[in-house]
Formats: sequence, C-alpha cells, structure tokens
Amino acid sequence: MSLQDLIPVVNKLQDIVTTTQLADLDLPILAVVGSQSCGKSSVIENIVGKDFLPRGTGIVTRRPLVLQLIHVNPTDPIVKEQSESMSNGTSIGGHGFNDDHLSSSNVETSEIDLEEHLRRHAATTSTTNNGTASTSTGNPVSSFAPLLEWGEFLHIPNKRFYNFNQIRREIESETARIAGQNKGISRLPINLKIYSPNVLNLTLVDLPGITKVPVGDQPGDIERQTRNLILEYISKPNCIILAVSPANVDLVNSESLKLARQVDPTGKRTVGILTKLDLMDQGTNALDILKGNIYPLKLGFIGIVNRSQQDISENKALEDSLYAEHQFFLNHPAYRSISNKCGTKYLAQTLNRILMNHIRERLPDIKAKLNTLMGQTEQELASYGDFSLLDTSKESRGALVLNLMTKFATSFINSIEGTSV
Ligand code: GDP
Ligand code: NA
Ligand code: MG
Repeated sequence: MSLQDLIPVVNKLQDIVTTTQLADLDLPILAVVGSQSCGKSSVIENIVGKDFLPRGTGIVTRRPLVLQLIHVNPTDPIVKEQSESMSNGTSIGGHGFNDDHLSSSNVETSEIDLEEHLRRHAATTSTTNNGTASTSTGNPVSSFAPLLEWGEFLHIPNKRFYNFNQIRREIESETARIAGQNKGISRLPINLKIYSPNVLNLTLVDLPGITKVPVGDQPGDIERQTRNLILEYISKPNCIILAVSPANVDLVNSESLKLARQVDPTGKRTVGILTKLDLMDQGTNALDILKGNIYPLKLGFIGIVNRSQQDISENKALEDSLYAEHQFFLNHPAYRSISNKCGTKYLAQTLNRILMNHIRERLPDIKAKLNTLMGQTEQELASYGDFSLLDTSKESRGALVLNLMTKFATSFINSIEGTSV
C-alpha cells in the first residue's frame, strides 16, 4: 500500500467519523480561506475541473462545504460495469458502509496527467460547453465522462448526482435550509464527495468569506461569526490553510494571511494562493511575492488566474479557462521563468503532495486513536451480545455499524503497518 492509497482510506474514515460521531480523529484537511470574492470558490472549481459551486456577488458560501475529491480510474472494470448498469437505468447503491473503497482496486490513485488533458484540449478545437456536465467530445475518456463523474451528498445517501448543475442547486437549497434565505451563515457543514477521472485525491473545505461590513439583513457581528467559523477549521494543527489573496490588493491587507498568521505564526502549514494576477495594474507584477521574497511561507505562494465574471457570464468552459491560464503564465514576461510553478495544475499537484506528507506525519497518532476506538467498539459489541444482520432493531443496527467500523479500523491499521513510512 502506497501513501497515495492512504488518501481514499482516510476519506472513508472521515465519513465514518462524521456519520457515527464517535470520535474526532482530527484528520487532515485543506481549508480555503480569504475575503469575500477573492476567488476561493473559483480556485476550488478549477481544482475539481467542474462548474458546481453556487456563485454570484455577495456572500454566497454560507456554510462550510467539505469536499472530498476521489479519483476514479476510467478503465477500472468496476467503474465501467457501474456506468453500463447506470445507462441501463439500474439504480446503484454504493454509499454508506460497504467496503468498496477500502480496497484500492476501484480507486485509481496515481496522479492524473493534466498536461495530457491540456494537450488533447488544444488539439480538439473549441469544445462548446453549456455549463452542464462534461459535454466535450473527441476522446474516449470524455465520452465516458458523464457517467464517470458524479457527486454524492452525505445528507442524501444512495443518490448519485451526475448533473453538476443539480449539485449546485442542492448546495443552494441545503444552504438555505440550515442557514436561512437571508445572508446569515451556519457552522454546520455540507459534505459532498466528487468522483471523477479528472481529479486528484484531496479533501477541501470551502468556507464563507470574511466580510467587513454587514449587508442587507446580515447580523451586525457577521465578521466575528465568520472569523470564528474559519478559526474553528484552521486552528486545528492538521489543517492545511489555503490562504487566498487577490493580487490586485496590497498583500499587507490580506485578510487570509492575517487569519493564518494567528494560528500558524511560523507559516509552516499555510499555502499562499495569489488570484487575479490578470487584474494587476499595467506594468506591475507579483514575481517577488511568488518567489517568496516578500512574505515568509514555508509552503510558498502559487499564482492563479481564474475565470473573470465575464467569462462566467458567457459560460466559458472550465477547460478553456485552464488552458488560458496555462498560456497566461507561459507567455507573461515576468512569470515565464517560473511558469512551471504557477497555475491550477501545479497547485493541485502541490496540494496532493502536501496532503500525503501530512498524513504520513499524522499516522502514528491516527493509529493510536484507532486502537482506542477499536477497544471501545469491541466492548460495545460484546455488550450487545448475539445479533442478526436481518434484525432491524435499533441495537442490531448499532452493532452492525460498530462491526463494520471494527472491520474498517482493522484493515486501516493493517494497511498502515504495510506502509513504509
Ligand atoms: P469567493 O467569494 O472568494 O468564493 O470568490 P469567487 O470565486 O466567487 O469569485 C468572485 C468573483 O471574482 C467572480 O466574479 C470571479 O469571476 C472573479 N474572479 C475570481 N478569481 C479571478 C481571477 O483570477 N481573475 C479574474 N479576472 N477574476 C476572478
Ligand atoms: Na462570492
Ligand atoms: Mg465562495
């Protein structure tokens, strides 16, 4: 078992913890932080390669969105079989406590080749995209894509969302259900998994943006509420902070860096993300920031160009914008020399690497916690006595969950022991 393989396993564990609320394992997570409209949701959409987040002016992200990206191998027989049964109209379970993600067999964990993706994209001219799920044509992977990419919400078990516009609507209505129709925020997260051949295995959290001035019927202490919510996530030592700053605002005024510094004063778990490089004043550039000469962060700064509001309004395809971003850095007089360390592709690879290193560092701790959890589980199981899996009484369902958890924890620990770290 390689470290890459551990990421889906850790994701699975995260689910069990969330569902059973048995323990807080403090699993690694990447949290996206910044002022309102600095480009947080855009960065996430670029990493995922899909349009699926609610957007608009003002405070749109009003509940934390915990997003697990799970890389799917298009050639995997299980995935193909599921796609085929799906196109025959057969419904699919596949959420919950089945073991299918414990084996790495149906989760291809190697890095995807975005370079190849970009090359293919350059070769096939103008793919029209109407903003719905992948409609591009011309290669075998993307012709499969509509069935290979889907989302699953923790609050709607056993339902696969193949239409990413529907995912957006579900996030919107689920936000309103808990946080209200007005501009209020809620600390209760929405959990969404995205399965796709085009993502790296990552767990990300999109957080409400920091607002200085309450708007409309927002509570007067909205800024404090938002800060506290963000701090809840980023103060955990195993949280990697993605501190987003727009390049067209002076870095000393960056809200995300101020917050990050509060909980990570030495800058060892903060990644600086500099957005809106295309909107800087003529003749200025951010080369010194990107080279790490201005603000000390051990994990560095990465420059990004997201879609502009006009691009979004014109339904510019995400893959077109990824290609345009790539070209921007390649051709820019200041950034040309560091173009291989700029942009969304480099960001996704960097995040994947950071996450793996982080998990590796945390393994002894996670293992100790799991051992304790297993001890508790065994005790509880013993107290239930014999049970039948078909019996639907509350006790036996509880026991079933615990039994599955034990199985999971055992295989998790075995997998760690098989890993040379
Ligand atoms: P959030 O509030 O931080 O989630 O920000 P969004 O991702 O929703 O972006 C807010 C607005 O800024 C949208 O209109 C985006 O199109 C625009 N935007 C974000 N990043 C960039 C960028 O790199 N360049 C340009 N030109 N516009 C951007
Ligand atoms: Na916004
Ligand atoms: Mg947002």
